[in-house]
Amino acid sequence: MDLRVSLVPGLLDLKNPVLSAAGTFGSGLEYMPYGDIAQLGGIITNGLTLRPCMGSPMPRMAETPAGLLSSVGTQNAGVEYFIREVLPQLPWRDVPIIPNLNANFVDDFSELAGILAAEEGVAALEVNLSCHNDNRSGQRFNQNTVTAARAVSAVKRAAGNKPVIAKLTPQIMDIVEVARAVEAAGADAISCIGKVQGLAVNVRERRAMLGNITGGLSGPAVKPLALRCVWQISHAVDIPVIGVGGIRSALDVLEFLMVGAHAVSVGSASFSDPETIFRIVQELPAMCEEYGISDIGEFRSSMKG
Ligand SMILES: Cc1cc2nc3c(=O)[nH]c(=O)nc-3n(C[C@H](O)[C@H](O)[C@H](O)COP(=O)(O)O)c2cc1C
Repeated sequence: MDLRVSLVPGLLDLKNPVLSAAGTFGSGLEYMPYGDIAQLGGIITNGLTLRPCMGSPMPRMAETPAGLLSSVGTQNAGVEYFIREVLPQLPWRDVPIIPNLNANFVDDFSELAGILAAEEGVAALEVNLSCHNDNRSGQRFNQNTVTAARAVSAVKRAAGNKPVIAKLTPQIMDIVEVARAVEAAGADAISCIGKVQGLAVNVRERRAMLGNITGGLSGPAVKPLALRCVWQISHAVDIPVIGVGGIRSALDVLEFLMVGAHAVSVGSASFSDPETIFRIVQELPAMCEEYGISDIGEFRSSMKG
């Protein structure tokens, strides 16, 4: 079955609609023992910053009913390390490699985008708009349409002809308004959703489960929220949407395509079973057949009502 999807024709063409989600698949290299990463639709890498970043205090993860609460704080060795040590080892000729960009300032986003876009092995850039716009106010880029658009246009200018994907979280007044703003600012696609802030506590020890106190919720608990956002956004913008949130099976993928996604990213499910994403890609053709789908393009957005 033909599962190819073109997010940006000629620039970002995927052999199937299943990508890894930022921060849950390492750089891709870490998952090589579990399957052929070149068979994926694309690899969205762990969050990168201009300079090495120590990340959040331990513990960084806590299991919650139907979800995972985490705060990693974008721990990474910095963009130069990624380019020098990691990118050359990734099968970038066979699968699109999409670094996930994190920054506190628009200028840093620009610089990061310029450095990465110059690399032949980088297919596109994903901008994490839920990073803090400035650490003092705690405001995030996607908190309003102005800061979200400013970050995306800066990345777009620095990215040359490399497609730019804007990653949104639902923790804003109106995700559709922000989606329209990033589209107008030049985003080539939208990824949604990122994690949702939460808190998990231990009563016996009278403490929070995470070193950072609060963290981001992900996993099956957020899937209905993600489906709602994908459905709303895909009807409001003309650029493709990559659905993220609680995907664990090929049937979950079909749910996202049916509400309007062009592609999906598999996130925390790769922690509970590192083979999940490979199994999803393998099972997708049979799942399409089971549900009478012969063309995923035609099936997209087919939800009635
Ligand atoms: C441990 C962890 C780290 C993450 N790091 C990033 C990140 O650096 N950048 C980003 O845009 N999203 C990051 N995310 C969010 C995921 O890419 C995804 O949007 C979210 O987890 C929802 O998908 P899921 O329910 O399938 O996990 C992270 C998620 C987790 C669980």
